[in-house]
Amino acid sequence: MVTSPARYRPGPLLALLLAWVLLSTTQPPAHAAPAAVASAHPLATAAGEAVLAQGGNAFDAAVAVSAALAVVEPYASGLGGGGFFLLHRASDGLELMVDARETAPMAARPERFRAADGSLDPKASLLGGRAAAIPGLPAGLDHLARRYGRLPLATSLGPALRLAHEGFPVDARLLSAITFRQELLRADATLAARFLIDGRVPELGARLHQPELAATLEALAATGAPSFYQGPRAQRMIDAVRAAGGWWEAADLSSYAVREREAQHFTYHGASITCASLPSAGGLSLAQALQILERFPVASLAPAERAHRVIEALRRAYQDRARYLGDPDFVQPPAWLARADYAQQRAASVDLARATPSAQLDAAPTFHEGDNTTHLSVVDAQGNRVAATLSVNFPFGAVLLAGDTGVLLNNEMDDFSLDPTARNAYGLAGSVANLVGPGRRPLSSMTPAFVEDARGVLVLGTPGGSRIISMVLLGILDFVDGGKDGLERVVSAPRFHHQFLPDRVEYEPEGFGPEWVRALEAKGHVVQVGRRRWGNMQAVFWDRATGEAQAYSDPRGKAGLLF
Ligand code: DON
Repeated sequence: MVTSPARYRPGPLLALLLAWVLLSTTQPPAHAAPAAVASAHPLATAAGEAVLAQGGNAFDAAVAVSAALAVVEPYASGLGGGGFFLLHRASDGLELMVDARETAPMAARPERFRAADGSLDPKASLLGGRAAAIPGLPAGLDHLARRYGRLPLATSLGPALRLAHEGFPVDARLLSAITFRQELLRADATLAARFLIDGRVPELGARLHQPELAATLEALAATGAPSFYQGPRAQRMIDAVRAAGGWWEAADLSSYAVREREAQHFTYHGASITCASLPSAGGLSLAQALQILERFPVASLAPAERAHRVIEALRRAYQDRARYLGDPDFVQPPAWLARADYAQQRAASVDLARATPSAQLDAAPTFHEGDNTTHLSVVDAQGNRVAATLSVNFPFGAVLLAGDTGVLLNNEMDDFSLDPTARNAYGLAGSVANLVGPGRRPLSSMTPAFVEDARGVLVLGTPGGSRIISMVLLGILDFVDGGKDGLERVVSAPRFHHQFLPDRVEYEPEGFGPEWVRALEAKGHVVQVGRRRWGNMQAVFWDRATGEAQAYSDPRGKAGLLF
């Protein structure tokens, strides 16, 4: 329920919180602390800090931030979505990835995404019941709190619960997301009641309450994941999905389980990198691209020469992603994919003077991903760390509220290939390795990462669909090759991207001049302004020398420039 700004009366606690938010978004902290939280929304960052102040560790804070983001960025991630949590535990050096990725229901089959005439139905994986995979975030939060946290789940969910109950002011990004989806929101009475005022887009500062979501969070706080995956609440979600054309069954929800997976490890110029593993393509693709780049002196090159090598490395990594990667419980990638001798071969195929047309790198299929997501980075005073990237895929996911649960369901089914040969709605082809199937997890680009060198540890990640991997790669290059200045640039440096197919470079127009574009065109690259906004990277750097941690948030996100 949205109420207009005139009726908004913050309670004293909230007023304090808002004052803090305003200060924290406009100024860097006056002094660094041993702990830091970076997230896409100041109220979510405040939730993490509050839980740290209550004696929680980084894992509790990650639960608090993720749950708060589910409330204040309902279009980007949430209980109806999933994600990956990369963990480092200081006491024993344990490092792993909690895979809370959504999972296809058992009835999912490629043919179920076709229209009556046999053609692929472009909306089926994007909107309504067929688009929604079984959510992973509630199980992920419960797992993190129980296995790694210090505080009860209920304590860490406290700030999110309050935000859902008491409401919070609509900010520029929420406003743009609502505007982007307004027709679909208007077409559904429950969604309209929740996110519109009298059928219209709310004003900036209007207050958004989510009482049903608060009730679902309350149940999660009281009895944990079973409150979501079993019993009457689960049944109400199933009914809603089936009424919207989907095929969820009780067993799909009751059998959902997070997976603990080994993280992907590799080095780049001596820096040790730990990041998401399959079913995120991020780790393997980054390992491949950075190993290729290690063979070129990119740090000392002119910008367009550096960009040429980065683009060619990305082209090769994304080609292999599309050929070989999928849910590791069903499809094993070739063992040589991240090996140094293979990187050497791939680097040798780079022509320093000319773009390699993707069609000449023996044709391979590719994939498409959506336009929303969020990332949080946390370091606590004990040295525990979390990098988590969470998603419902497109803004507002499947644009489907699961009955009266307040849970907005993801449209992560669109991250699968629905047909290994046909092109999808975006003109991109499918792949066999990532073909939709019962119980599978769709291939992702989400790449939470830790980068460690003599100076300290950088915890980073970003939303951005298929461009996540290139953004994290550019962030790592800036950090490792860029010295002290590089740290500031990690979240703010201009972005460019290549993903093998379509065979073109997308770039951020504010970041590169006409000479850069002309120099790349002269090498045969097709260079285009990116259609979508870039970012919203969130990083924390822990400085080994001082023991202090500092948060860095993407200025594009702070400026509300993300839709
Ligand atoms: O898992 C993935 O790769 C996508 N569902 C992420 C979507 C995304 O980052 C969109 N961001 N702006």
